[in-house]
Amino acid sequence: MCQTASLKGKVAIITGASSGIGTAIARRLASDGCAVVVSARRAERLNALASELTAAGGQALAVPADVSDAQQMQALADQTVAEFGRIDIMVNNAGFGFIKPFMESTLAEINSQIDVNFKGVCFGSMAVLPTMDKQQSGTIINIGSIASIRHWSHLAVYAAAKHAVLGFSRSLYEEVRTKGIRVSVICPAAVNTEFLDVAGLTNPPWPAADMIQSEDVAELVMTCINMPKNVSLDTMVLWPTCQSSQ
Ligand SMILES: NC(=O)c1ccc[n+]([C@@H]2O[C@H](COP(=O)([O-])OP(=O)(O)OC[C@H]3O[C@@H](n4cnc5c(N)ncnc54)[C@H](OP(=O)(O)O)[C@@H]3O)[C@@H](O)[C@H]2O)c1
Repeated sequence: MCQTASLKGKVAIITGASSGIGTAIARRLASDGCAVVVSARRAERLNALASELTAAGGQALAVPADVSDAQQMQALADQTVAEFGRIDIMVNNAGFGFIKPFMESTLAEINSQIDVNFKGVCFGSMAVLPTMDKQQSGTIINIGSIASIRHWSHLAVYAAAKHAVLGFSRSLYEEVRTKGIRVSVICPAAVNTEFLDVAGLTNPPWPAADMIQSEDVAELVMTCINMPKNVSLDTMVLWPTCQSSQ
């Protein structure tokens, strides 16, 4: 356990915690004393992560849920409050994309990318906001993408969904900032995770070690949380130096 334990007494939900960035965020927050509720669809991975964090002296609960189902997201928030009594941090991180020409996309691929990447963020936020409103405090951190601010061929639907995440987050912030609730968006470029395999990019043009690492994103999540409570970070863009930002 980290000696400073700056997040002792805080409670976080992390979606997409069964892999990559979500797992790293859960580990980082737990190492600072935060109670973490780890969520995704693959229960075995979540249980293994929760056991690892608990064995290291942390507090962790695994709650399987599909972010594209509003009722499951509400149940996730309800279970968190029942177990830990509050929700301080919501990291809407679950997401995926398919890299393929739009004209070859199926209806199912279009719908699922919107449902998970965009509606998942809405449903996650909707589920935790009443609790944060009651507390008059909370931090929502949404994992967008470089595709939230750029356009890319063969990623049209994913980019649209991630643009929506940014528009939603900034607009929501204006609604909730006077309630002590902050909303931030982190927009990474290439991160070394399973995302690229799922997307169909089997041979990324960069060495894995040169890409952004999940732990780098987790560090930025910590920065958002640890800002003075009257300061909200808006949109943060991360590039690995191996990838051109032009
Ligand atoms: N890696 C990159 O280059 C990159 C760049 C920019 C942005 N991002 C964003 O970063 C976030 C995390 O991705 P990652 O890179 O860590 O990829 P990853 O390792 O593939 O992790 C994706 C996570 O999302 C979860 N997930 C997918 N569909 C879900 C659903 N319907 N309900 C609940 N959870 C679901 C997966 O868990 P289950 O399969 O167990 O449900 C998994 O835990 C995503 O939003 C992604 O768009 C990634």
